[in-house]
Amino acid sequence: MWKITENIFDPQKQHHKETIFTIGNGYLCTRGALEEGYPGESRATFLHGVFDDAPIVVTELANAPDWLALQILLDGEKFSLACGTILDFQRELDLQTGVLTRRVRWQSPSGKIATLVFERFASLTDEHLLALRCQVTPEFEGEIEFRAALNAHVDNQGLLHWTFVEQGRKNGTTAYLRTRTRKSGIDLALAMRLLASDSPQPDYWDAELVPTLKQVVRARAGETVTLTKFVGVAASRDTDDPLAMALERAAKPVSWESAFEAQKQAWAEEWRRCEVSIEGDEEAEIAVRFSLFQLLIAAPRHDHRVSIGAKTLSGFGYRGHAFWDTEIFMLPFFTYTAPHIARNLLDYRYLTLSAARDKARQAGYQGAWFAWESAANGEEVTPTWVPDFHDRKKLARVWTGDLAIHISADVAYGAYQYWQATGDDEWFIAHGAELVLDAAQFFASRAEWLEERGCYGYRDVIGPDEYHDHVDNNAYTNLLAKWNLETARATLDWLEQNAPVKARELNRTLDLTPERLAKWRDVAEKICLNIHSNGLIEQFDGFFALKDVNLAEYEPRTKSMHEIFGIEAANDYQAIKQPDVLMAQYLLGDAYDEDAIRANYEYYNPRTDHTYGSSLGPAIQAIIACRMGNVESAYEHFIRAARADLRDVRGNAGDGIHAASTGGIWQAIVFGFGGLRLYPDRRWEVHPRLPRHWKKLTFRFILRGEQHTVSVGQN
Ligand code: BGC
Repeated sequence: MWKITENIFDPQKQHHKETIFTIGNGYLCTRGALEEGYPGESRATFLHGVFDDAPIVVTELANAPDWLALQILLDGEKFSLACGTILDFQRELDLQTGVLTRRVRWQSPSGKIATLVFERFASLTDEHLLALRCQVTPEFEGEIEFRAALNAHVDNQGLLHWTFVEQGRKNGTTAYLRTRTRKSGIDLALAMRLLASDSPQPDYWDAELVPTLKQVVRARAGETVTLTKFVGVAASRDTDDPLAMALERAAKPVSWESAFEAQKQAWAEEWRRCEVSIEGDEEAEIAVRFSLFQLLIAAPRHDHRVSIGAKTLSGFGYRGHAFWDTEIFMLPFFTYTAPHIARNLLDYRYLTLSAARDKARQAGYQGAWFAWESAANGEEVTPTWVPDFHDRKKLARVWTGDLAIHISADVAYGAYQYWQATGDDEWFIAHGAELVLDAAQFFASRAEWLEERGCYGYRDVIGPDEYHDHVDNNAYTNLLAKWNLETARATLDWLEQNAPVKARELNRTLDLTPERLAKWRDVAEKICLNIHSNGLIEQFDGFFALKDVNLAEYEPRTKSMHEIFGIEAANDYQAIKQPDVLMAQYLLGDAYDEDAIRANYEYYNPRTDHTYGSSLGPAIQAIIACRMGNVESAYEHFIRAARADLRDVRGNAGDGIHAASTGGIWQAIVFGFGGLRLYPDRRWEVHPRLPRHWKKLTFRFILRGEQHTVSVGQN
């Protein structure tokens, strides 16, 4: 199963479908809006790193000028699904090649019938190249007119980001457009070149911000006419002369066929590294492949100055900002199947170290406190206020930017895991170690000695479960901080043995005095952990004293418990958005035996807002349930994650892909059902736990440069 399909056009579901049918190539992504455009659509193309200032959300990816724009006139009548009659409609996204195809048989209001086939892809071999083809087969004799444009009349839900620089025509069949973001001053150039089956020179319309080429072709009944639009795109982030680059890329392809052949091969190469197949469960298989496709089209292959946002490049949600979602949920997929991409993502964090140090310093701490929401340069860009659920005219305070300190350990965790999996010592010495050490330094300085408890703690934080803010000693935070401090010590020892010059350099630049290192050890050894007799870990100080909830009593519901209780009041209940303790147990793996995991799973699972809480939780819960041998529950969690976007379970898939969930889905397959366990000495084992209806699960991973394929059946 490789195809995501739909066979009716439902304008009510446009936003959801635009997200699902997003295409991309790791440089940019384009939502699946239709070429001719519809009212209420949420049409967008986002390029990595092209941020511009915005009120409230600080900065956002600027919706780039539209390269899809194509109007078609059949003997003077404009093709539009909003009028005439749709005789047949089908759309399919081929995950194997990254091509989105739409086939429509349409009757115009005056009764002219034609079949139109639209195809588009973002080239994976040349990430500055986009391709669109339209084939029209009329059932009448007459004129087919194509109006192909580059359209900078685009906005980010009302906010305009582009100013006009220049536009024009070149070599008869090419037109171009240059625009610049208003505040960040990023130049973007697009060049489109048309190839038509019957090719008189197209006319050029010089409408400001919408350079358009008009191509008219005569056709007989049953004869197919074709228009191909190649678009080159480049920004001043890529080159000193974006226009020259865009023109050059648009001019390159010889034909649609040759560009498509290269595309097919490039995607085959991608899938060879990471393909997953599940015999016996088509829904699960297509959902996994869809998830991996979404990650692959958003993965920066040639840029280490960007990360992947929580909604990838597929929607306006979270404005392109990156969260812990990248390191904890998405990164493992890349670390174990495409280390070159993982390295780019981690280098992005390395480049943000100076902003992270400033953030720590401004709050009175040392070391690196990474931004909860991170964009162009790693400054904190979490909005401070957002509209309240209950009354959109009122504002609610967002605390994550001030209180979510676990992000620093998450980044360190991702860096360390990458190093362990790849053995990339060169990178770890040059960049990774510093991420781990400076995050540890932050946790050492942020810890407070709590005299009455006799341990070090972190007061006034927010953990992954964001239904509770301003809490003390969040279990996830404390456990990951402890891991970070211990791992930093081990990192220093390793550096001293294997890269003594770097060890001395970091000792000096990070000011790792003996007193500071002693504090690292002390905090790690004496950190407050609320562990109860049966291994049950209290999510934070006082959590068990909160009002208990029976979530079943609130069913059926269509809202999150946060919305039902209200932002403030949710703090008084034991309902959680995602299970912090289980997350930590998953990440720290070997530290917990089955009994400790079971005690916590049984406590937190029924108190978790699975469907409307965080989309990050279900995949991880699937892994935990697998560890306990509870495959049925594992499948229930897994399928919940698998449906998040494809079925739009939360009703917000229109804002973009739930990227952390897609990464979690891969982890659930490999580390949950596949039961992959890795050991430091390159050894690995699988302890599969397949759902009963799965006949065979096959997946691939790379460990220390070697690719392995695992195939497991019921026996
Ligand atoms: C979740 C966070 C997550 C963010 C972005 C929030 O709703 O609670 O854990 O990082 O979404 O996906």
